Amino acid sequence: MFEIKAKDNRGRVGVLKTRHGDVKTPNLMPVIHPRKQVIDVAKYGADIVITNAYLIYKDEDLKKEAIEKGLHELINFDGPIMTDSGSFQLSVYGDVEITNKEVIEFQELIKTDIGTSLDVPTAPFVTRKEAEDDLEITLKRAKEAVEYKNKQNMEMLLNSVVQGSTFLDLRQKCGDELTKLGADLYPIGAVVPLMESYHYKELVDVVMNSVSHLPDSVPRHLMGAGHPMIFALAVAMGCDLFDSAAYILYAEDDRLLSTRGTFKLENLKEMPCSCEVCCRYTPDDLRAMPKEKRRDLIAQHNLNVSFAELRLIRQAIYDGSLMELVEERCRAHPKLLEAVRQLGNYKDDLEKYDPRSKKSAFFYTGPESLYRSEVVRHIKKLRKMPKKRDLIVLPPSRKPYSKFIRGKLGDFYIYGSEQEIDLDNTDFMVLDVPFGLVPLDIDEIYPLSQNDSPKIHDVSSIEFIEDFLSEFVEYYEQVLIHSKIIKDLGIGLYNKCLSDLDIVYKKDDVKKLKAIADYQFGIGAGDALFTGNINVEKSKKTGKIRHVYDGKVLIVNMRASDSYLILSKEGAKRLHNKMPYPLNRVIVNKDSEPFALDGKSVFCKFVVDCDYDIRARDEVLIVNEEDKLLAYGKSLLSACEIKEFESGQAIKTRKGMKK
Ligand code: GUN
Ligand code: ZN
Repeated sequence: MFEIKAKDNRGRVGVLKTRHGDVKTPNLMPVIHPRKQVIDVAKYGADIVITNAYLIYKDEDLKKEAIEKGLHELINFDGPIMTDSGSFQLSVYGDVEITNKEVIEFQELIKTDIGTSLDVPTAPFVTRKEAEDDLEITLKRAKEAVEYKNKQNMEMLLNSVVQGSTFLDLRQKCGDELTKLGADLYPIGAVVPLMESYHYKELVDVVMNSVSHLPDSVPRHLMGAGHPMIFALAVAMGCDLFDSAAYILYAEDDRLLSTRGTFKLENLKEMPCSCEVCCRYTPDDLRAMPKEKRRDLIAQHNLNVSFAELRLIRQAIYDGSLMELVEERCRAHPKLLEAVRQLGNYKDDLEKYDPRSKKSAFFYTGPESLYRSEVVRHIKKLRKMPKKRDLIVLPPSRKPYSKFIRGKLGDFYIYGSEQEIDLDNTDFMVLDVPFGLVPLDIDEIYPLSQNDSPKIHDVSSIEFIEDFLSEFVEYYEQVLIHSKIIKDLGIGLYNKCLSDLDIVYKKDDVKKLKAIADYQFGIGAGDALFTGNINVEKSKKTGKIRHVYDGKVLIVNMRASDSYLILSKEGAKRLHNKMPYPLNRVIVNKDSEPFALDGKSVFCKFVVDCDYDIRARDEVLIVNEEDKLLAYGKSLLSACEIKEFESGQAIKTRKGMKK
């Protein structure tokens, strides 16, 4: 019913299947008023819409027509339709003239694609008692709705809305309870008041605490979110659907949406975008128009910018540049900047979902970039790497650093015990923003070379690399820090200068390959893979390593785009022999064994378990429950997603061991 096509952080491009067609996500569902609709939203790009079943139910004429002709004919839209249940009316008027069961039954009767139970939207910042009491009703109704749907064999998909106000433990509890029900979609409710009052930081807390307790295999809908300014942030947190009455409500009020905020027509001297409305009319033209025509054109602009933003977001996910877009968008308002900083507190959660390498380079856009998955991941890996006795810290050069570092390295300051330098017992690293210390042996791996940051540093990033250095010098007996770093950063800790030391960084292909393997597959992988008569073939054009053999037997290829190692059959065997279970493994059940051996790709439903550290784009070993090697391939998802999804591909198999 829902399949992931591409990922970036918690964001995903997916496909939601309904009986009225497939919908690409992330997507926006324009709100259709069952009686007052004036805009043909399909014409402006809507693939799916949302309308209100309760408003139809309450109006005798609409109700009759909906039952006779069905919802799709009633609102004249032949794609997928979601219906809401009257919960919003409940939250505004305190009461509705329909029961939970009735609204479920009615939605199925009028052939909605996705129906909603009658949740209780609890406002933010209410008392704990109020939130708990409301939540109890919401959960009871969600359960009743799922049971009723199943008992009646209903065809429609069902929303179960996450509530819990601004109590994060209640959001988590609600997520856990709703997950047990196995609903088809999980909207996150009662966030409109947070957005209207610019409580974006609280929105981040609410969404992250809801999403992290919901299944990954089910789409999530941020209810009532219709301002394009927050789409990128919400998608990065794992939201797949938005709905909006904003396009028409703002238009009625002569306000134009944009990713930079909202523009009042009365203040506009220039039209704000390049959509057909903005190209064709001036603000004066619009102001001179009759109200209805003006409203329709502004609504059209509002839809145009919203859909354009969603296209940009989906492309950013394909490219792997979603966080750059989020950081850019969040500069539109201080409260959004605060929100993206708050998201930094959830960096470990985002890292679990983020692919290991991406098409686009990592661009540092400001201090918020220091909290991205790639940085978090590198620090964790580096802490675990075995360390030599001494460390030499060099200033950044062009990237890859190892390619541009040449000859004698110059003057150093010394930290720690002073002893004779043994270059064979020394790690060489470059100190730079945003990855702190980058070992020269692995510096070609994504994103350690595939990144850029301004050479005029901000205070946060200087502090960041200073802290990084302070932590790492403690792991070594003796650290030599290049004088240029001391000069540039103004670090005063290290006082003794060793002039013109005779230190040269020696390039050694096998040492480098082993370091990359250890970084990629875990400590010991380098020794496991590269034994025997190692023979390295390089690209004539770039000089980069392409293939590595033992004699004539291929062990690995090095992927040009990110310098990760791609296993051959022999490489997979060597890794499997030496790296302990369950490292690098995806474990499949008996039924799928022959398919795996044959080199067929692995589907999620056959996976019994896997190494928790697997991320999308990792090279993995496919084994059975007795740890027999069946095949090897590339992961398409993160470990947490592989374990949970029941459909779709998990591993793109490179080869089965039978062949
Ligand atoms: N529309 C906006 N917020 C909500 C909510 O919390 N619940 C429902 N059912 N609809 C909404
Ligand atoms: Zn426009």
